[in-house]
Amino acid sequence: MTRALLFSWFAIAAIAADTETRVKLPNSRADLVRGEKLFQVHCARCHGPKGEGSRGPTLIRARLLHAPNDAALLAVIDEGIRGTEMPGAGAMSRHEMLQTAAFVRSLGKVPQQPVPGDAARGAEIYRSKGNCGACHSISGEGGVAGPDLTQIGEARSAAYLRESLVDPQAAVPEGYVRLTVVPKAGLSVTGVRVNEDSFSIQVRDDSGRSYSFWKSDIARVDKPKEKSPMPSFRGQLSDPELTDLVAYLASLKERK
Ligand code: HEC
Ligand code: HEC
Repeated sequence: MTRALLFSWFAIAAIAADTETRVKLPNSRADLVRGEKLFQVHCARCHGPKGEGSRGPTLIRARLLHAPNDAALLAVIDEGIRGTEMPGAGAMSRHEMLQTAAFVRSLGKVPQQPVPGDAARGAEIYRSKGNCGACHSISGEGGVAGPDLTQIGEARSAAYLRESLVDPQAAVPEGYVRLTVVPKAGLSVTGVRVNEDSFSIQVRDDSGRSYSFWKSDIARVDKPKEKSPMPSFRGQLSDPELTDLVAYLASLKERK
């Protein structure tokens, strides 16, 4: 190899390495402690205090689908994941995001707990006894009354999945939260919450019409007593059947 060729090869290798590691996570003990504190404040309500997962997935995984490298992890924390319940970090500084990312990476070194149960048997229960496909779709097959479950194993922890089967009211996904907005003047609207921030709330009624209210114009917001359309399977499925079904749901991930 000539010297010029060798040089350009090094240059290209250096550029490739640079895009991969452009983000350097802080790794001192103090940074990790601070990262864990930030995680408690900003992330634990969805990912669990130890990152074990709840409404969001467990982060105790060596490989994260949306965060194959540290730059991608920082982007996930900063911007969230579009079209999912994973929000952007909002008020964190870049350094705080880096510290949080460092803590998340440290979770990847914690030994992973396998989800118990037999996923193949769970798939059978899904099709037969559970008749879940009447309301849910997986890979384009099934009903549309409930959320699509094609990637549910990527989005939720096993504990949350179990809860949504035995106590659906307690685990309602965004986009299915029903409420009635009672304005100070005018007619009230019942429907699902599409969006909400500090100043306004958007609701879509059952005919598909969307309404936006300023919070300052609202008298109160009621949660209707009507039950979630998702039936509870408590008592309908045995404990081992629920375990197998959760194992199946947890296995539903985007194939890459
Ligand atoms: C309101 C709930 C919520 C909060 C708060 C939240 N997350 Fe998430 N997060 C989720 C959900 C849900 C997903 C799964 C999105 C999907 O793939 O459907 C997710 C996904 C992720 C992923 C991608 C996992 C993977 O395997 O690719 C990372 C990393 C992550 N969150 C980190 C964080 C961090 C760090 C914080 C705090 C700064 C945080 N999240 C705050 C709900 C939340
Ligand atoms: C009659 C329709 C119906 C049937 C049958 C049904 N579901 Fe649901 N399911 C829903 C609806 C609607 C929601 C969203 C509202 C809620 O969670 O209360 C939901 C929510 C869920 C969620 C939570 C999703 C998320 O992102 O948080 C899971 C998991 C789930 N269902 C799994 C199942 C499984 C497994 C079965 C079969 C054992 C089943 N469902 C049977 C209608 C149904």
